[in-house]
Amino acid sequence: MPDNKPRAIDQSVSRPLLKWYDAHARDLPWRAQPGANAPDPYRVWLSEVMLQQTQVASVIPYFEQFTARWPSFAALAAAEDAELMAAWAGLGYYARARNLLACARAVAARGSLPETEAELLGLPGVGGYTAAAIAAIAFGRRAVVVDANVERVVTRLFAVAEPLPGARPRIRTLTDSITPDARAGDFAQAMMDLGSTICTPRAPRCLACPLRERCDGFAGGAPETFPVKAAKQVKPQRYGTMFWIERDGCVLLVRRPPKGLLGGMRALPTGPWSDSPPGLAGAPIAADWRVIDGQVRHGFTHFNLDVTLAAVTITAHTGACFGTPQGEWWPIAEMESAGLPTVFAKAARMFGRMHA
Ligand code: ADE
Repeated sequence: MPDNKPRAIDQSVSRPLLKWYDAHARDLPWRAQPGANAPDPYRVWLSEVMLQQTQVASVIPYFEQFTARWPSFAALAAAEDAELMAAWAGLGYYARARNLLACARAVAARGSLPETEAELLGLPGVGGYTAAAIAAIAFGRRAVVVDANVERVVTRLFAVAEPLPGARPRIRTLTDSITPDARAGDFAQAMMDLGSTICTPRAPRCLACPLRERCDGFAGGAPETFPVKAAKQVKPQRYGTMFWIERDGCVLLVRRPPKGLLGGMRALPTGPWSDSPPGLAGAPIAADWRVIDGQVRHGFTHFNLDVTLAAVTITAHTGACFGTPQGEWWPIAEMESAGLPTVFAKAARMFGRMHA
């Protein structure tokens, strides 16, 4: 029977792992050198929020742009909502951007980022993982940091047979049992680096692994079978229509309602997203639409979306006959700077090709 009780800290993992990290740590823009003074808490917080659901390689250019434009909590707190949302476009999970701004304003108001996990947890957009990661990485506090990479490494080290997500409490206890008191931030990031460079999902490079000798998964001969996952739920399929209204080299863009999916983002007008193709329901104007079927597909976390595109070109003169749509006329030549979320950027590129 697996027990969930914390045990004495086992240094047989952290010792070889930190030694490996000292030689092989990835050089990432938000990091201090291994063992060096703590990095800037602002940069740690920003990177951890960006990395919550996004890969390191995708985050780096956004992180560079954000820190060049807004180098501190105070600078970010003074940003306009719309400019921040536009700068975030393409990173996805837009609630993170709204929380980012709320958090920067809260931190600017109180003067500095709090240092403990418990206080960090009270900030907008800071959940259990992020609070632990910031406490450890920015402030050197011992915290149990578990992300997907750490889950993979730990389930292999201890050959955890129970499937995810049920195994999470046990994985946490096991991670706790190997987290050292000193260098907790380096330890967390070393686990992440090991997970993304050596202990990879499909073909782990065990021969290069500093933990091979004490890894139960390796000893059992099939480390790649961990973590065991519960059977995947099939994502529901949904359908929608996006409307491209063109006038004098511009296209109509709207701002999505503040709450809900892609809330507050600039977008093409859409009808409802529903279980069957909604056709022209919800069209912003009555017009002679040209409909192009099934051109854009996008996977959100909880559903897949198939989008039908509908286009019409109006002139200032004919436009008056159709009614006046609400929104802003955006120059088509400058679509890249509109800050559209990916699903709308895909559609805009498609319309651009059709009109080229
Ligand atoms: N993923 C989340 N946080 C990270 C970090 N600090 N370094 C590398 N990958 C990460």
